[in-house]
Amino acid sequence: MALVEIRDVHKTFGKVEVLKGVSLDVEEGEIVTIIGRSGSGKSTLLRCINALESVDSGEIRVEGERVHAKMPDLKKFRQRVGIVFQAFNLFPHLKVERNITLAPLLTGRTEKAKARALAEDVLTRVGLADKIDAWPEQLSGGQQQRVAIARCLAMAPHLMLFDEVTSALDPELVGEVLKVMEAMAKQGMTMILVTHEMGFARNVADRIVFMHQGRVWEQGPPAKLFANPKTPELASFIASAK
Ligand SMILES: Nc1ncnc2c1ncn2[C@@H]1O[C@H](COP(=O)(O)OP(=O)(O)OP(=O)(O)O)[C@@H](O)[C@H]1O
Ligand SMILES: [Mg+2]
Repeated sequence: MALVEIRDVHKTFGKVEVLKGVSLDVEEGEIVTIIGRSGSGKSTLLRCINALESVDSGEIRVEGERVHAKMPDLKKFRQRVGIVFQAFNLFPHLKVERNITLAPLLTGRTEKAKARALAEDVLTRVGLADKIDAWPEQLSGGQQQRVAIARCLAMAPHLMLFDEVTSALDPELVGEVLKVMEAMAKQGMTMILVTHEMGFARNVADRIVFMHQGRVWEQGPPAKLFANPKTPELASFIASAK
């Protein structure tokens, strides 16, 4: 059984069919990168996997469990499936430690006496142990994004979704965030990432999924896909991304 099973998923907003029958499996430990033009449905697909949107037809299963917005243990489900977005969504009025420990404390994942140690642990994993007492505004964009990733890690998710987490960063800060994600990949985290960072996709992903007009247009291992695009749509996307 794949960790994520997506079967013939359709999703319409108003009159626009954004996902037109998407099927995709992601195995445990696999790093899958989704690429494609603006509006091709990449973010919508990620949001459906995390039950932030419900699908109109077809189904999504994570660890065998059917995902939908009204699932009875939605909170528990979201602990297992972390998502990080483009915009930094740290709470500005809370220090780094509290940003990280809030959810684990609320959900009972950790007890008060162990919360700081948990924050230290996940901050160490993103290289920011020394920022535990900082306010978000005292951090660079790249550091804030790494705290956002650490906050996800604190819930010990089984799957992580990343939606263009480096797109809002100044170019010189992109590398440090990609490095953290690469380290997570090496540690065996199952990850689905939407990214415009073709170098990262090429070097780190096990598989690349090219979405076009709401469909999985082409997919395969990066070396093969980039060297031999089978469709003119992917060929022109690769050319324009260079
Ligand atoms: N909540 C919504 N309500 C209405 N339309 C939406 C909604 N979310 C997405 N759409 C539309 O669905 C289409 C696909 O959007 P989506 O955000 O999934 O694309 P994307 O591939 O992530 O694009 P980008 O690369 O620009 O982020 C777009 O036409 C968008 O306007
Ligand atoms: Mg998007």
